[in-house]
Order: sequence, then structure tokens, then C-alpha cells
Amino acid sequence: MNDLAGKHIVLGLTGGIACYKAAELCRALVKEGATVQVVMTEAAGQFITPVTMQALSNRSVYTSQWDGREANNMAHINLSREADAILIAPCSADFMAKLLHGRADELLSLMCLARPRESVPLLLAPAMNREMWAHPATQRNVAQLRSDGCTVLDVGSGDQACGETGDGRMLEPNELLQDVIAFFQPKVLAGQRVLVTAGPTYEAIDPVRGITNLSSGKMGFAIARAAQEAGAEVTLVAGPVALSAPRGVRRVDVKSASNMLAACVEYAQAATIFIAAAAVADWRPTVAADQKIKKDGSGQPPTLGFVENADILATLAQSARAQGGEMFCVGFAAESHDLLAHATAKRIRKGVPLLVGNIGPATFGQDDNALLLVDAAGSIEIPRNSKLALARQLVAEIARRMAH
Ligand code: CTP
Repeated sequence: MNDLAGKHIVLGLTGGIACYKAAELCRALVKEGATVQVVMTEAAGQFITPVTMQALSNRSVYTSQWDGREANNMAHINLSREADAILIAPCSADFMAKLLHGRADELLSLMCLARPRESVPLLLAPAMNREMWAHPATQRNVAQLRSDGCTVLDVGSGDQACGETGDGRMLEPNELLQDVIAFFQPKVLAGQRVLVTAGPTYEAIDPVRGITNLSSGKMGFAIARAAQEAGAEVTLVAGPVALSAPRGVRRVDVKSASNMLAACVEYAQAATIFIAAAAVADWRPTVAADQKIKKDGSGQPPTLGFVENADILATLAQSARAQGGEMFCVGFAAESHDLLAHATAKRIRKGVPLLVGNIGPATFGQDDNALLLVDAAGSIEIPRNSKLALARQLVAEIARRMAH
């Protein structure tokens, strides 16, 4: 993906051991298509050299407001005017305190103060010892910086360079990358609470065996990520899959269709959008044996009975909140043929305003797919693309329909 193509990011480094992560972050931003201009404070130079950052960003690094390379000798103006965002990573406690007071005694803080606030957002990735992070002075500064319009990103939790354990270390480069990508996505679902189901379900036969399907969960996880990027609060109810949850998404792991239904009924009480991307098993064994079913030596296989699982999508689509227009429901259909006809019929049968059709065998486990969106007005195709790109388009389509 080139999620940052065309973006110019000024990456500011302040003094902290997390500077070692800034090298990898710089690389990740460049790999995602951004151009990166590094600016370092003198303290940052104690932890990592401008040579490293220059090599990774492929641009010479600025460290001083007295840098004579700029014809007008105004690096703080020139560098900030061309940026799509300034990202300070790591941002030390001291640097936050400086920003708070509008101090400008070296290039990086000077540039932050001189930036056009409307067009150049400032993102801070704090990095410090847990006591420093928890200190009322720091927390006060974070709150004030937020109300001044800065985006203060989360901190990580865990082992710290000082040997202590707790909150305050800088997020990992990949987490920061996700946050920066999300920052630039249009906030078309701001204020919405989105519930998404994803993956297969697992219906136990006995303690060691069960029935499941080949759904990888990738589409549902991509939708959860796209909705979160679009500003929604997202709950992802996931069957057994080998995927990690997108950043900032609440994940609820379930196994069977019955578990999934229970979780969905609970979280749908607050949801404003429900998207059923899971491949829910249609049937489960009538009884799940308590003990492993053993061969009895007769050569006869055991007889398994099945009962139909509740239809989670249809159940929620019929709930008072969906019927009253408080929750917009979106279903999926995985078909093998006659997609438009099947998807159209399924939309009506499930009682949902929007149904997303795809060809099952062409999508399970794949990283890309193509979608057919069917609603009361007709259908539109979203051509083959990565699942994340499709998910972002689907989110935009849902937002557009909800706005009407
Ligand atoms: N779904 C659900 N609960 C079920 C079965 C399906 O919530 N027990 C949802 C899926 O998440 C999907 C949609 O319903 O959004 C379509 O499911 P699908 O299995 O393709 O349709 P079916 O109703 O099972 O129809 P058919 O088996 O005829 O294809």
C-alpha cells in the first residue's frame, strides 16, 4: 500500500532513548510513500546521529535555526510551510512543556510555533519514564496541548529502558505508522459506534474436534480498521482467526455462532452501525460431547445430528433499534455464482438496507477482492482492490447512505 503517497511529513526528534525507534519509523513512513524531512534537537543528537536519519530519509537533516543552507535563513518558516503534518517522535516531557508555553529557543520548537495551525497539524508521540508520564505536570500539559489543537498520540506500556515497567514508552514504529495513516483518513464516521463481525465460527463436536470454514477474517478486520480510521468507535466480534486487532479497536473473541450472537446482542445495544462480515456456520452439532468421541471398533462412524444456528444479521436487523432507524445494518453474501440475483434476494430476506456481495471462493484468505453493493436503489460494483481499500470505500458508501 501507498497510504502516505504525496504526503510530506516533518519528523521531529527530541531527546529520549526512543530515538532508536525513530529510525525505523522514518523508514516506514518513506516506505508508505511519504517524503520525510527530519529535524532534530540537540538532545536528540545525543541518542542518534543526523547521519542515520539523513540516510533513511534521503534528505539532509536540520538541527539548528542558524543553518545557513536556507537562502533566507528561515528554516523554521520554510520547513513548516511545505509540510502536511509535523510529527514529533519521540516527544520528551521537556519538549511538551516547551510547546505548551510557546517557547521557541531552538529550531524544532520554533518551527512548531511558526507553523500555520490550520493547514499543518502537529502530532506528538510522547516517550518518557512512567513516573514522568504520570506526573500531574505532564498530564496537565497533555490536556492543555490537546485543547490547543495538538494530537497527542497514546503511549505504550511495558518494560522501559530505565528498568521500570509501566506507561510512557513510545509506541512502536508500526503503531505510529498506523496512527499517522489513520490521521489522514476523512472522518466520515465521527461519532458513530460500529459493530463488526469477522472470521469463521467454530462449532464443537467434542473437546478436540469441530466444524469451521475457511474464512480468514481479513475483510471484517479491514472494515473494523477503516471504520476506526474514519473516526468511529469500533467493536470487532471475531471468530477464531490468526489476525491481530487493528489499532484502537475493541476486540471481542468468540468461538461458536451462539457466542457470536450473544456478544453481538450485547454490543448492538449501543451500536449505530452493524456490519456482519463473519462467515457464521449455518448449523452446529445437536450436542457437543463432553468427552472425545472414540472409535468403538465396529468400523461404524458416529452419527451426528445438526441444528440450525440463529441468524445473527437477521436477528439484529429485526431489533427495535434497527427498525427504528437507530442502527444501520449491513450484510455480506458469499456466493459462487449469479451474484447480483442472490445478493438482491438475500438483502430482502435478511431485511437490511445494504448488502455486500462477493464471490466466496475468490475471496477467502485472499488479500484482495471485488465487491457488489446492493441496496433498494440498485447495485454498484467496487472493482478489485486490496481489502483495506475496499473497506474504506464501503465505509464511505455507508456514511453517504446514513447522511441521507
Ligand atoms: N449471517 C449471520 N448469522 C448466520 C448466518 C449468516 O449473521 N447464522 C450473516 C453473515 O455474516 C452475512 C450474511 O448473514 O452477513 C449472509 O450469510 P450467508 O451465509 O451468505 O447467507 P445465508 O443466509 O446462509 O444463505 P445461503 O446459505 O443460502 O447462502
